[in-house]
Amino acid sequence: MEKKKVLVAYYSQSGQVREIIDRFLSPFDSDENYEFFFHQIKPVNDYPFPWTSEQFFDSFPESVTEVGCDLKAYPPQLKQKYDLIILGFQTWYLSPSIPTTAFLQSQDFKDLAKDVPIITINACRNMWFMAQRSIRKYLNQAKANYVGHLVLFDKVNNLTSVITIMHWAFTGRKDKKWGWLPKPGVSDQDIQSSNIYGEILKDKWESDKLNELQEEYVANNGVHVLPHLMSMEHKAKRIFKIWTKFVLKKGGPENPARAGRLKLFKNYLLLMIFLMAPIATVVFYITYPLFFLRIRKNIKYYQSVGS
Ligand SMILES: Cc1cc2nc3c(=O)[nH]c(=O)nc-3n(C[C@H](O)[C@H](O)[C@H](O)COP(=O)(O)O)c2cc1C
Repeated sequence: MEKKKVLVAYYSQSGQVREIIDRFLSPFDSDENYEFFFHQIKPVNDYPFPWTSEQFFDSFPESVTEVGCDLKAYPPQLKQKYDLIILGFQTWYLSPSIPTTAFLQSQDFKDLAKDVPIITINACRNMWFMAQRSIRKYLNQAKANYVGHLVLFDKVNNLTSVITIMHWAFTGRKDKKWGWLPKPGVSDQDIQSSNIYGEILKDKWESDKLNELQEEYVANNGVHVLPHLMSMEHKAKRIFKIWTKFVLKKGGPENPARAGRLKLFKNYLLLMIFLMAPIATVVFYITYPLFFLRIRKNIKYYQSVGS
């Protein structure tokens, strides 16, 4: 039997995405029928890790406008055809991270992905819905065969994860802030159990039923939706676009002229997260019955891979 060839493309600053992918693929370990090529997406000027606060907020407008960035030349292996593509990425400011966007927008990716089954794995804090819309858009443009999407996120409460993720981003350490807050990011337990999604893939692929993959992923909690965050994101993305326009009037990336406006945005964002978001959550659940049908429709949309 000819080996099945799999391309695994990913971007990750801390290595968390790679850790998840390795665990996800563990059911394929020592199976001679498969051949994997790992491609780490690398910007020409990579984003800092750990970040300074200024750098972190400076990446906001370009994340939202999805302009991408220059990537290092792809290796020749990316010119081959694959039987399956796995893309590991993360969300930045409710959008795919800038290097991921650049990869998805590149002609080489479009050539690679046409008619090829693809699985995406987003490892983020917990706000991934609007980024998922973009991912779907890029995969549609590339005419890829989108068969599976998984989201692994930080399950601790929203406010705690903001504090812990910032600790991680600004120190580079995935450890407990103040020694007692939970560890940031996707929990060790969720990383460890991501092999079940690889087993499901193997099973569906070998029985030629990749079209049933997403259904199984959803049944196994692979795309858990927190409805209040989904609702919040719809509004937040609109507001992010307004802020982006406001900041971009002062110039492009790292232009010192936009520092003042980014500082304003930072304060606004923290106020929204710590003051407005809890209020919006309470209002969301009080009015939940009124919007039940729409919420259910949206949940289905975000759990699916159809166009
Ligand atoms: C600039 C920046 C913006 C981020 N914005 C979001 C976001 O909007 N939603 C979210 O769930 N996580 C967000 N995160 C967290 C990331 O999705 C991710 O989980 C974390 O940065 C670890 O990714 P890594 O694999 O690159 O180490 C953000 C991280 C960074 C650095």
